[in-house]
Amino acid sequence: MSKKNIVVLAGDGIGPEITSAAVNVLKKTAEAFGHEFTFDYKLLGGCAIDKFGVPLPDETVTACKASDGVLLGAVGGPKWDGMPADLRPEKGLLGIRKALGLFANLRPAVIYPELAAASPLKEEVLARGVNVMVVRELIGGIYFGPRGTKDDGKTAYDTEIYSENEVRRIAKVAFDLARGRRKKVTSVDKANVLLSSRLWRRVVEEVHKDYPDVELNHIYVDNAAMQLVRDPSQFDVLLCPNMFGDILSDEASQITGSIGLLPSSSLGTEKAGLFEPIHGSAPDIAGKDVANPVATILAAAMLLDNMGLNAEARAVERAVSEFISEGWRTPDLGEGKRVGCAEAGRLIAGRVHA
Ligand code: IPM
Ligand code: MG
Repeated sequence: MSKKNIVVLAGDGIGPEITSAAVNVLKKTAEAFGHEFTFDYKLLGGCAIDKFGVPLPDETVTACKASDGVLLGAVGGPKWDGMPADLRPEKGLLGIRKALGLFANLRPAVIYPELAAASPLKEEVLARGVNVMVVRELIGGIYFGPRGTKDDGKTAYDTEIYSENEVRRIAKVAFDLARGRRKKVTSVDKANVLLSSRLWRRVVEEVHKDYPDVELNHIYVDNAAMQLVRDPSQFDVLLCPNMFGDILSDEASQITGSIGLLPSSSLGTEKAGLFEPIHGSAPDIAGKDVANPVATILAAAMLLDNMGLNAEARAVERAVSEFISEGWRTPDLGEGKRVGCAEAGRLIAGRVHA
């Protein structure tokens, strides 16, 4: 029996609906396996701006740091689009990543065979298999480099910047993960143009010396974008700097058919990791009980794994697979037994067994 304290950052848009479904599943999991989970709800993003005037209140950071893990819904929406850059909901997300030292963002893209029809790729391409793990560096690069405006606001700049240490620690995560998978790392850069990419490539090669059992390839980011839709089966672990990973993980998610199915985890220097769906806050469907909670529920499974509760994580994944193979479909997944967000959460929770 373990006691775990989970911080829930429901956020904005569909965030409250999908996290509520996932918390349901976690509660059922705790019950089935005899654990005690407490859920501490804190604000991040637009909802925090509304209440506290800032997207990342101090009390949210403190609670996350003290927790065993953080479950996040999504942040942002048109309501806050007019805010100055430093007070946008997204700034809260970047801030909590930085505050928790979450340098490694893992975004798996896998195909559920039953849902292959929802993929924009041809059947014969999918038949070769899609199981890509995007490993994205999350607290460096152009997202956090020196930036500014000059010439009275007529010129603006952001800087892509990486140190050897930043590259080394994310490269290790990629190689370690590859060992438990198909033992292949493809490192993404733009080393034909960028100095920061040349450093990236050199350090990745150095780290690779400790992993002779793993195959390493380098690929330019433009080619990676093309190869992902031409033949995704060639990729196992895709190791990416922050912005390239942001872009390629959206692409990778789309080839699986639905962005509503894919979870992600962010791990770092503190005990608490952060677990969230890879999709956004979908303000257009918020409050309508039609959002797909599966990505958030699978993120909850990643959270369980990170807390050392592996059998529990597998039980949640099995429950999701059962739910999908029984034909239940939220509207994003096309034809099938129609189900809403809350009901999907209840059906999946009901399928979690020890
Ligand atoms: C993501 C999102 C964020 C990012 C935004 C909302 C700041 O696109 O998690 O991929 O760019 O990292
Ligand atoms: Mg993104």
